[in-house]
Amino acid sequence: MTIPRIPKVSIDLLVNNEMRNVVVRPSDTLLRVLREVLGLTGAKPGCENGDCGSCTVLIDGWPMKSCIMLAVEAVNQQITTIEGLKDTPIQNAFLEQWAFQCGYCTPGFIMNCHALVNIHPDANDKVIQEWLESNICRCTGYEEIEAAVKSVLSKQRSDGRYSH
Ligand code: FES
Ligand code: FES
Repeated sequence: MTIPRIPKVSIDLLVNNEMRNVVVRPSDTLLRVLREVLGLTGAKPGCENGDCGSCTVLIDGWPMKSCIMLAVEAVNQQITTIEGLKDTPIQNAFLEQWAFQCGYCTPGFIMNCHALVNIHPDANDKVIQEWLESNICRCTGYEEIEAAVKSVLSKQRSDGRYSH
């Protein structure tokens, strides 16, 4: 019996403000396409099951686990990966607070925290802790990551502006 081949499709993805044409299988995850087709290896494969958050990217500004999203679902949406963030307050805060060790989870945490400080500029401890539950770090204390988020929120408040 011959197994029918599912044809690939050509789609345009807006990644880090740049339109990229890619040819993908309908079943390809966004994570696979970002890493293996576009060479953007910042989003990391961890569990590939939606549990660890190491693959987090932003879709229209909201954190999304790219291992459980199909690339074809991302058409017509703005995709931001860690490669698209440059010198942002949360990146600097991670450095200042030593909020990483091996760094494997860090791109995912930074994308998630970047969204948090933009979407919830008034976040309290409970909101921060709940937001961070979507990402797993095996080697840094969460306190340093929380401290990085708090330092950005506090700076935004004292400056009277929010980071976008
Ligand atoms: S690799 Fe996507 S959530 Fe773990
Ligand atoms: S810094 Fe190593 S897993 Fe988070």
